[in-house]
Order: sequence, then structure tokens, then C-alpha cells
Amino acid sequence: MGGCLVSRLVVVSNRVATPKAAQAGGLASAMLAALSEVGGLWFGWSGKAVAGDPGPPKEETDGRITFLTTDLSKTDFEDYYNGFANRSLWPLLHFRPDLVDYSKQNYQGYQRVNRHFARTLAPHLRDGDTIWVQDFHLIPLAGLLREMGIAGRMGFFLHTPLPPPDIMRVLPGHRALMDALTEYDLVGLHTNAYVRAFVNYQRDLAGGQKLPDGWVRTGSGRLVRVLALPISVDPDAIASQAAKAVNNPSVKRLRAGLTAEDRIRLAVGVDRLDYSKGLPERFEAFGRFLDRSPQHRGLVSLLQIAPTSREDVPAYIELRGQLEQQAGAVNGRYSDPSWTPIRYVNRTYPQSTLFGFYRAACMGLVTPLRDGMNLVAKEFVAAQDPDDPGVLVLSTFAGAADEMDEAVFINPYDIDGMADAMARALDMDLPERRRRWSALMARLKRWDITTWRRAFLAALEEPPSPEVLRSTGVM
Ligand code: F6P
Repeated sequence: MGGCLVSRLVVVSNRVATPKAAQAGGLASAMLAALSEVGGLWFGWSGKAVAGDPGPPKEETDGRITFLTTDLSKTDFEDYYNGFANRSLWPLLHFRPDLVDYSKQNYQGYQRVNRHFARTLAPHLRDGDTIWVQDFHLIPLAGLLREMGIAGRMGFFLHTPLPPPDIMRVLPGHRALMDALTEYDLVGLHTNAYVRAFVNYQRDLAGGQKLPDGWVRTGSGRLVRVLALPISVDPDAIASQAAKAVNNPSVKRLRAGLTAEDRIRLAVGVDRLDYSKGLPERFEAFGRFLDRSPQHRGLVSLLQIAPTSREDVPAYIELRGQLEQQAGAVNGRYSDPSWTPIRYVNRTYPQSTLFGFYRAACMGLVTPLRDGMNLVAKEFVAAQDPDDPGVLVLSTFAGAADEMDEAVFINPYDIDGMADAMARALDMDLPERRRRWSALMARLKRWDITTWRRAFLAALEEPPSPEVLRSTGVM
């Protein structure tokens, strides 16, 4: 479908890629592309936490998109973003109940900000709008809008994993949160495993029932559809940006540095500095790989780009200290005047520069302990030179693993196995690299970012089939 089935698209997400925003991540680029195609409204947080009352939202229009953003008060930002979203929900959704730090005050802040979002957005909505809410920050939004009499189709996409019921129930108030998800007409998740987690929760803990075609009847009799719709990238656009990036000054400097002495080969990792990304394990495995592969010493450098994130949350502060120590230890052990094993960088780069780094690399390391999807895995593949592609080393715990069979798979909890996989990827011959890359790239082209958003919006418009209605006793 094109834009024809959707009257007006309204996207709601915590972060908004306004024309002035510095840089768009995966979620933001996907939404920007969806809205550029069909036009519409994009509403979310302005990125500013202000003293006192946030005041009215700001509206600006750029082409076919109207951006509506609201500031948050410092207290709301603290309780909602640094609090419930990133201290409770994020670790829970990433299978880390040990890191869940719950407080009633933060939970109330999360509800308060969701209500603020609903009240701010409602006056800007029109009859027949299709509302597409993004991610774990805004789960309660559909229920709150419906309470205010908003009747349009409402879809939700969760960009993180969804853990099984036994982990979900660690969270005080888990039932209210899972019930809030069922207020949407469609819930999109990245993988079949996350869909199973949703259905099992409904069945085991909420009195729901699985129906055909991804439909679920909730304990209260409402119908909600839950589908695995893995987010993707625009592989053609990435490929052309990566090819052009050879002229980018940062990429030129990187290449010059690598070829200065012997030809040093590059391994690359790009991750937000987050405990879910398995960075300590990656550094340890890279050190182990050098311990065990003297022939690679002096010839392979790992460029790890890890922009800092959520810097007020204690788990993130600890991780930063740990990584600095680990990179220092590996570099102290092996560096020589012309070679640094780990180049560890906390700054951010524009996407086109990152694509150039990916293309310059022989190996991409995507080794999270848990990740909803991980678009770096897909971007790395799309950025490769088809004549001499690098190898993707991928954790089986990234959602991307479901679609990327030709990667070299690792278990990030197995440091020796990861070190072996690094050696295998670096020693892989050209025909094998080409065979794997062609299969990965072909799959990316078949299910790209456009296919993803069209599939979601088409499913959101689809009513339950007669078979589904029959199974509920409605027909
Ligand atoms: O991975 C899910 C996600 O919501 C991404 O879309 C986003 O990059 C990140 O998590 C959230 O980051 P931040 O807390 O900086 O907005």
C-alpha cells in the first residue's frame, strides 16, 4: 500500500527527529521516512527538561510533516525518563530483573507524563487519524487517549525485546502495563519469540486466549492483534552513502591511520554505551583473541564507538568506568608505538561517517547480551563493498539474528567462543565472505524499512477476519 489507506498518520515517540535535531537514530529515521511518504504529524518530547511548568507545545512544519514537541518539567523528566523508563522498564525488557530499580514515585511520574502527552496531543487530533505510538516510554498512551474519547485506529511498536511472563511479573504493576498494551488495535514486535512472550502472558497471567492470524482475545473480551514485524533499514541508500563516504575526512583519516605502517585490518563496533550491548564481554573476547592469535597482533584494531547515554542512571556510570579500565588493560598489554588494539571512542558520528567506517572494516562486532533488533547489524551488511565484503559477527541474542543466518554467530557469555569467532571471521576467504554477504544483502532488500512500515500500517487497518470473529463467538 502507499499512503492511500491511511487518512493522516500521527506518530508519537519519546524522541522526535525535528529538522533541527542533531542526529536521527534507527527509530527516528524510520519514522521520518514513513511520515515523508504519507505526510502527517509527529509528536513527542522536545529533548528539554525545564524548571517549572513546560508550557504549550511547539509546532513547526517541514514539507509534509508537522512536528509537535513538548518540554518536560525537570521532575517529570527525572521520574519518567531517568526513573521508570530507564531504571525499571529498560532492564526488565532486556531480561535484567537484577537491575530493575522500581519506585512508586517513578511509576507515577511515568503515568503523569503519559497523561501529559495524551492531553497535549488530543486537541491536535482529527477524526480518522491513524495513531502509531513508538516504544516502551509510551505504553499507556492508547488507553489514555481512548478515555478522552479518541476513537481512531491505534498501533504500537515495541523497539525492545519483550521477555517471557516469568520475567515480566518481576515488575510491580506488570498487569496494568500489559493491559495497557491491549488497548492498541495492533502491537508490533521484532520477533516471533517476543510475540510468544506476549501471547503467553495473556494466556497465563491475564485470562486471554490465542486466536488465528495473530489475534488475541483479552480477559476482558477485547481483540488485539500481535505480529512479528522486524524493523529494517534502507539498504540501497546505505550502500550508496557508504560508497561515497570514502571521501569523508573522518573515514580518510581512519584509512590513512590503518595503512600507515603494515596494513592494519579494522574490526568495528558501534553501540550506545548500554549494559545490554555486551561491551565488557566484547573487550574481554578481543583481548582473549589477541592472547591466542599472535599472528593477528599488530594487524587488527578494534574501533569501538560507544556514545554515552542515560548518564544520570547509576548502572550506566559504572559501565563507563569498567570499559575505560578494560580498554586500558588490553591496550597496555599489547599496544606498540605503531598499533593500538582497541580504539575506544565515546563521541557520536553522523550516520554517513559510520557507514564509511563499516565499509572500511573487515569485521563488524554486534554482540549484545540482549537487543530488540540491532540495526547496526543490518547497516554493517548494507555498507559493505560487494567485491570485498567484511564479516558480521552477531550475537544470537539480538533480534536481528532471526533474519541473518549467514552471520558468524556467537554467544556473548562464551568469551572463548567469541574469541574463536573473531579469528574465524578474520581468516574467512573471499568466496565464503561473498556468499554470506550476498545472501544477507538479498534478504535486506526483500524486507527493507519501507516494507516494514507498509506492512505495519496495512495490518493496522485490517479488521479481524470472519474466521477470527467466529472463534470469538461474535459471528
Ligand atoms: O532500542 C530502543 C530505543 O528506544 C531506541 O529507539 C533508542 O535509540 C534507544 O532505545 C533510546 O535511547 P534514548 O534513551 O537515548 O532515547
